[in-house]
Amino acid sequence: MDFLALRVTEADTHWVTAWSQVLDADELARADRFRRSEDRICYIAAHALLRTALGAATGRPPASLVFGRGSFGKPFLPAAPALHFSLTHTDRLTAVALHTSPVGCDAEPADRSVEEATFSIMSEEERAWLLGLPTAVARQRAFIRLWVIKEAYVKALGLGLSLDPASYAFDLTGDAGILRRAPAGYDGTAIWRFGAEIFGETHTVGLAVQGRPELPDGSLPREISAGMVAAAASGGSPLQLRKRA
Ligand SMILES: CC(C)(COP(=O)(O)OP(=O)(O)OC[C@H]1O[C@@H](n2cnc3c(N)ncnc32)[C@H](O)[C@@H]1OP(=O)(O)O)[C@@H](O)C(=O)NCCC(=O)NCCS
Repeated sequence: MDFLALRVTEADTHWVTAWSQVLDADELARADRFRRSEDRICYIAAHALLRTALGAATGRPPASLVFGRGSFGKPFLPAAPALHFSLTHTDRLTAVALHTSPVGCDAEPADRSVEEATFSIMSEEERAWLLGLPTAVARQRAFIRLWVIKEAYVKALGLGLSLDPASYAFDLTGDAGILRRAPAGYDGTAIWRFGAEIFGETHTVGLAVQGRPELPDGSLPREISAGMVAAAASGGSPLQLRKRA
């Protein structure tokens, strides 16, 4: 299991050319459609991180990777279908999780403001738990943790927006998340590992992984530098990944 994160700042503009080398024409066209330059840079960084990580995992040149898309838009590699991965990019952070079983990740700014009316999108039991927390700050933090775990889970399942967030429920009263109620039609007894942690004080990062992989850093990603991704994208040292069983 690998979980990597790359922080993106305005100062990273000079890496964009190196990162862009591994993107395909579709990705470059999508990058150009972002109106805000920081979103464009974050998208390019995300896809360079994804491609260099997958390149290291498959031993193929990052630029040569061709993606397929599942019914709900989940990307996969037809040339390496047993390699599961998930990508998230948001507000100056991008992260990629790779594993040999289904995996999903999500990141949100830790201080994102949340109207309590939004709690109504969650399941009844999650909403009751959130509303029972003692302070507005505790409720906001708990909502973001719940959100990233739920999003990571639906991304691991490949379902994206097709699944109503109220149709399944997590219990986050302990450190790790527990899936209390699986969505209809999904195996509630399958073993998963879930986590939602604050990463570097700025973001809350969620991870959902099927099975019980060893995670030396808990459920936190390992930070990769902009230069390491640029070097790997330019044909230099590949990103270093953990050995797979
Ligand atoms: C598609 C979706 C999963 C993306 O999530 P997001 O938070 O907007 O964006 P992220 O940056 O975290 O993830 C985007 C990446 O997810 C991947 N992705 C797209 N569709 C996916 C799917 N069906 N399953 C898994 N991953 C998917 C892609 O790699 C995408 O990156 P790209 O657009 O640059 O290629 C999202 O639109 C969605 O459906 N969210 C579920 C909403 C929800 O019910 N949340 C429950 C929380 S309460």
